[in-house]
Amino acid sequence: MIIPAARRLQAVEEYYFSKKLAQIRELNQRGHDIINLGIGSPDLAPAPQVIETLQMAAARPDAHGYQGYKGVPQLRQAMATWYAHTYGVTLDPEQEILPLIGSKEGITHISLAFLNAADQVLIPNPGYPAYAAAARMAEAVPVEYQLSGPHWLPDLAALARQDLSRVKLMWLNYPHMPTGAVASPGFFAQVVAFARQHNILLCHDNPYSLVLNTQAKPLSLLEYDPAKEVVLELNSLSKSHNMAGWRVGMLAGAKPYIDTVLKVKSNVDSGTFLPMQLAAAVALALPDTWHQARNAVYARRRTLAYTLLAQLGCSVTPGQEGLFLWAALPPTVTDTEAFINRLLLEAGVFLTPGFIFGSAGQGYVRISLCATEARFAQALQRVERWGGGVNKLSLKD
Ligand SMILES: Cc1ncc(COP(=O)(O)O)c(C=O)c1O
Repeated sequence: MIIPAARRLQAVEEYYFSKKLAQIRELNQRGHDIINLGIGSPDLAPAPQVIETLQMAAARPDAHGYQGYKGVPQLRQAMATWYAHTYGVTLDPEQEILPLIGSKEGITHISLAFLNAADQVLIPNPGYPAYAAAARMAEAVPVEYQLSGPHWLPDLAALARQDLSRVKLMWLNYPHMPTGAVASPGFFAQVVAFARQHNILLCHDNPYSLVLNTQAKPLSLLEYDPAKEVVLELNSLSKSHNMAGWRVGMLAGAKPYIDTVLKVKSNVDSGTFLPMQLAAAVALALPDTWHQARNAVYARRRTLAYTLLAQLGCSVTPGQEGLFLWAALPPTVTDTEAFINRLLLEAGVFLTPGFIFGSAGQGYVRISLCATEARFAQALQRVERWGGGVNKLSLKD
């Protein structure tokens, strides 16, 4: 006998990567050497002083107890200082910041904190799959807004013509994953006005603003809502500080919103290991030169990624930000999934199919920059060798 899962899970799929990574692991166990250019888990190390802080704090006998639900003051202060330095946004470290166990958990906490059953949530298509899954777990209804190239920005005028009366929350994410699209200050100002007009809580997910950023200054949506009335912002050390496995993120916004999310979170987890909090505070204080050096590594890899995508016949919009390149498959590829599977099984290279980010990702692939230049060079060789076969088979199966 099997006790059935909750009904609210019926529309929630297992995360694509959890299945695909299992297949890649199995292939590797069988002696293949798959080059995984799928997932955006930084392979570069955090700064040495971050790791030293973790090690030293972990050696303290008093560092192992439960921590407060809002993190230690040093971490909240470091987050506030980082926001002021990076974005020019002032946050009260006591009231307007909530450290999180990665920003992904924040997506679910926010959804549980603000959504009633049957409320609607605007989510980007293509976009990060966790927004829709979290809405469903809160028994709310995800409503997609369509993005299309080359700018991948929502058409706010078209959205305003829709019935928005049941929409309570809107997810926004710029620099956008998976497309690498960038939003201008003008767009941010418009979307805040749109949210005010329609009484919508705008949740901006901002983990990529420091990775291969092209604008003079990284943007926070909070800058465009100085009273913090309709904007909540998630941020993360996963990508910008090479700390994805650490699970350190944050939520920034007005006190009443933070307190509401804390109601959920304090009933779910019991804080973050103190040494990680102290080390995260050190990471947040790293100089701009550290970020520039990391970006120089990604920029070299990106050059190789362009070549690899060109070899596959893909086209790439320039000026993308973040940890990936988003590329349109050539028109000869009529079945994205079959193409990705053949690339995996025949060439030993894994790229993420765009459709996992929504129907608007059909016909696209996402390549991660989280692999060494040597590994990119090897992937390129494999694709070149495979390319001959590809042309002969015309990629239509
Ligand atoms: C758009 C977006 N938001 C959030 C996350 C989650 O990041 P974190 O590691 O902070 O949970 C990711 C991770 O891939 C992401 O791409």
